[in-house]
Amino acid sequence: MSEPDAIPASDPFTTFNAWFADACAAEPNDPNAMALATATPGGVPSVRMVLLKGHGRDGFVFYTNADSRKGVEIRANPQAALLFHWKSLRRQVRIEGSLTEVMPAEADAYFHSRAFVSQVGSAASDQSRPLDGRETYLARVEAVRERYEDAGEVPRPAHWTGFRLTPRAIEFWCDRPNRLHERRRFLRAETGDEGWATTLLYP
Ligand SMILES: Cc1cc2nc3c(=O)[nH]c(=O)nc-3n(C[C@H](O)[C@H](O)[C@H](O)COP(=O)(O)O)c2cc1C
Repeated sequence: MSEPDAIPASDPFTTFNAWFADACAAEPNDPNAMALATATPGGVPSVRMVLLKGHGRDGFVFYTNADSRKGVEIRANPQAALLFHWKSLRRQVRIEGSLTEVMPAEADAYFHSRAFVSQVGSAASDQSRPLDGRETYLARVEAVRERYEDAGEVPRPAHWTGFRLTPRAIEFWCDRPNRLHERRRFLRAETGDEGWATTLLYP
């Protein structure tokens, strides 16, 4: 009995775009939420959710505080992995590669595309640092809000930036009947051109 493959062997970005569009239509919350795994140079891993804020052939972008735990780890070791799990669709995408910081103009544009209250919240947060009480954070939020209320926007803090993961490997997993699931991995060709080698994997 032969069944057609559910995951095309052609260009992985086309499949990612199609699956992401399906997720945007199907998932009740944050279809762009992805787990970001980083590791210390000694190989101690950590993982947390972030939001995908841009993607294309050049990579997958998220924004964060570069002084956070993840930021410190990325500076010391730019190797990282991303994971999407779209539960309603029973699909998973794993992406591995290295991170580079986006250009300041790109970070500025995204920071200022966010609502004023979001700019305030980010600027007031010492992400990943100990906080003695929520009122301390709220007082800092209020101070930033008052300071920039008239301007209507907050200057982007230097430590608030974006990172782009340039993929070296992309793997798609999808649910198929009788738990005979399908996995397909793409590895970027060593030649450095836009080519990808692909294979199915046992699920
Ligand atoms: C759905 C979801 C989306 C999130 N998106 C982001 C994000 O885009 N950027 C970010 O810095 N933190 C985001 N967070 C918070 C992170 O998961 C994490 O708590 C924070 O970045 C600190 O992580 P770190 O201490 O490992 O640096 C998100 C959390 C959730 C649950």
